[in-house]
Amino acid sequence: MANFIPEPYRIKMVEPIKITTREYREGAIKAAKYNMFNLLAEDVYIDFLTDSGTNAMSAAQWSALMLGDEAYAGASSYVKLIKAAQSIFDYGYIQPVHQGRAAEKVLFPLLLKPGKYAIANLFFDTTRAHVELAGARCLEACNPQAADTVLKAPFKGNMDIEKLEELIKEHGAENIGLIVMTITNNSAGGQPVSLENMRAVAALSKKYNIPLNIDAARYAENAMFVKQREAACQNMSILEITKEFFKLADTFTMSAKKDAIVNMGGLIGVKDANSPLLLKLKANCICYEGFYTYGGLNGRDLETIALGLYEGLNEDWLKYRLGTMNYFGECLEQLGIPYQAPPGGHGIFLDAAKFYPHIPYTEFPGQLLAIELYKECGLRSCDIGSFLIGNDPDTGKQLKSVNEFTRLAIPRRVYTQSHYDLVIDSIDKVWKNRANIKRGYKIVWEPPILRHFQASLAPLALDE
Ligand code: F0G
Repeated sequence: MANFIPEPYRIKMVEPIKITTREYREGAIKAAKYNMFNLLAEDVYIDFLTDSGTNAMSAAQWSALMLGDEAYAGASSYVKLIKAAQSIFDYGYIQPVHQGRAAEKVLFPLLLKPGKYAIANLFFDTTRAHVELAGARCLEACNPQAADTVLKAPFKGNMDIEKLEELIKEHGAENIGLIVMTITNNSAGGQPVSLENMRAVAALSKKYNIPLNIDAARYAENAMFVKQREAACQNMSILEITKEFFKLADTFTMSAKKDAIVNMGGLIGVKDANSPLLLKLKANCICYEGFYTYGGLNGRDLETIALGLYEGLNEDWLKYRLGTMNYFGECLEQLGIPYQAPPGGHGIFLDAAKFYPHIPYTEFPGQLLAIELYKECGLRSCDIGSFLIGNDPDTGKQLKSVNEFTRLAIPRRVYTQSHYDLVIDSIDKVWKNRANIKRGYKIVWEPPILRHFQASLAPLALDE
């Protein structure tokens, strides 16, 4: 039997969730034009759409709301947040913003422009969008192990160092505006990056004089993986590992909606307190987010992030968090169900291409599997595959994703083991029914950018 690490918390307040029938769900997903983002949350039984901002705050965080100082400038809540962030990351300047993509919007145009490139171990979709909105283009150099969903390698999220250097030489160091290390590597399945790999990337960033940015949404889960898997780091604390990672970069952009265990917020960090970037960064923040001491957030939000940054680094919490993913993975393995192994830090990425090998990427197997799971048990998940990647910005042609994943992203401190067991049982039913599914989906309408949030789909008929 798979081992479940018990929750290091208990429940004080509950939210009822609606139980629906299959027939009801078939109507709801059709009405939602087969797009998970169009579903009403009340029609979802278990919501694994994202782990972003869907977390349960602690009693300490809820009580800190009342301490929120809502002063426009220089609020005491801002001072608390800056102190907390600086004590963890040791950066000279910390800028709160309302979420991760706001951090990208404020920082990236200062480093990127038309003709420039950004290179990442893989970009998250909004990160890619903000590189492109700045007029630059994205290049990726992910560890090739990430493409093999069966291979149980410890750091499948790493940057491919050789490829990174090749790309720098091919395009010219002067044209690379930014290197981005995404920790953990969301698009690769929440797979971690090793400290050794981070050091190698930092060495290339120094050698070629290219700024290095950490996309730090899940930095705490990454640190726990490093502690568990990297021999040289097993006696380090999570805080020490975190400090080592951030020491190696020049800047970070962070969605605080993940590992800082809040519902809204983000941060930008600039290591050098005297960086010439700061004047423009503050100006962008004032234009897009609000005055730089609140950055689009309420004073009470600043309070909860200040506490969440510490709670997210708690080792018992992180052991449980990664333990949940392992439990999930072990259960799936016992049932012979394919997923990105070993499990990532924030969820399970089912290998939809292996569920439906007869369905081409142009019919979106990851989206198809998400729809089947919703119909089966009211689970909301999402495609991390060709449906998400969308079209080439220059040619308009559908891009082919390396993997076709259906992501089950697990909110922090929200669900219990019996929810996970129900989901595992439902995945098994959908797996056993896979040969009866003959066709995937087509897009009947799509917007020009970030299409998966809004596109309308329809099931393909057998003779289409
Ligand atoms: N970077 C990474 C690696 C992310 O996973 C996300 C968001 C962002 C940046 C943007 O942050 O949402 O606060 O604006 N990921 C969420 C997800 C939405 O579901 O994976 P944001």
